[in-house]
Amino acid sequence: MYNSRISGLGYYVPENVVTNDDLSKVMDTSDEWIQERTGIKERRHVEKGTDTTTSMGVKAAKQAIERAGIDKDDIDFIVFATLSPDYYFPGPGVLVQRDLGIKTVGALDVRNQCSGFVYGVSVADQYIKSGMYKNVLVIGSELHSHGLDMTTRGRGVSVIFGDGAGAAILTREEDSSKGVLSSHLHSEGQHAEELSLIAPGMGKRWVTDIIEEKDPEDISYFPYMNGQFVFKNAVVRFSEVIMEGLQTNNLGPQDIDMLIPHQANLRISQFVQKKFGLSDDQVFNNIMNYGNTTAASIPIALTEAWEQGKVKEGDLVVLAAFGSGFTWGSVIIRW
Ligand code: UT7
Repeated sequence: MYNSRISGLGYYVPENVVTNDDLSKVMDTSDEWIQERTGIKERRHVEKGTDTTTSMGVKAAKQAIERAGIDKDDIDFIVFATLSPDYYFPGPGVLVQRDLGIKTVGALDVRNQCSGFVYGVSVADQYIKSGMYKNVLVIGSELHSHGLDMTTRGRGVSVIFGDGAGAAILTREEDSSKGVLSSHLHSEGQHAEELSLIAPGMGKRWVTDIIEEKDPEDISYFPYMNGQFVFKNAVVRFSEVIMEGLQTNNLGPQDIDMLIPHQANLRISQFVQKKFGLSDDQVFNNIMNYGNTTAASIPIALTEAWEQGKVKEGDLVVLAAFGSGFTWGSVIIRW
């Protein structure tokens, strides 16, 4: 049986930096409130007419392919995780296949929001372990900024999210002690609406409803988040799923060399760090610079950690995510 390992990483964020002070000019918020509650100092917003979710994903993918030392035609399968696709359909996986000029390999779109990259890595890992594919491209990319309510009404959500993309190449590995050791995925749809964007959809708010009603008070096409409820569930599920991954491999928290948590809120990461007694060197955070980039946050953070020499051969690396769905998961990797 084969294993899979991450052989190349890349990320891309748009140039346009939006600080907390910039946001306080368009809504009633402050640098102090945002930093104290979330740890975020700034985030990136795509300027109209420049990037899309797909184009950012393609840029991250090109870097990952180059670093993996493979050719684009060596890619056997594409997995694209996002909650902000360019089109309602088709999903961005096929757009990546087109824009990278890859041969007609399969392209799968993952709809698991903040856990999307973890789900994507898990899927890629299984395809490689089964022997079906040798190189799988996994992308997480989000363009949130132009879908947010940038008024005081939306401030509880809009200050948190940012744009960007990250990508990884998962490659066949003959040494089973190296690479992805295990992945752990969960969902609890009971809380689906607690962090959601319900329109346009074919459930509660049809496209035709929105067009016909032209309701100026309609906010169903902006993301909704029950912040405190999500926070409380996040800290519990993050901890559970990290522990589940460690125990599966007969490991404990002190074996972690680098934890890359989904960058939802610095307070959540700090809670998890404290719970497991981890030092600052064992947890990587960059939410200060990019905000919460949902499916992109783990691959961006993992790439930065790797670029800074904080992820090295032989290290035990743990990826963990929680978000809308609710969905959550972890991946345990021997680098
Ligand atoms: O990535 C997916 C998973 N997402 C998460 O894990 C996010 C989890 N939730 C959170 O991170 C936090 O709940 C938030 C950062 C979203 C909010 O922090 P909070 O401490 O839970 O604040 P809150 O929603 O309870 O709001 C406290 C107060 C309210 O005012 P009142 O009612 O006390 O007068 C809000 O209206 O803060 C107000 N508020 C703001 N004030 C200034 C909400 N947003 C803002 C804002 N600026 N941007």
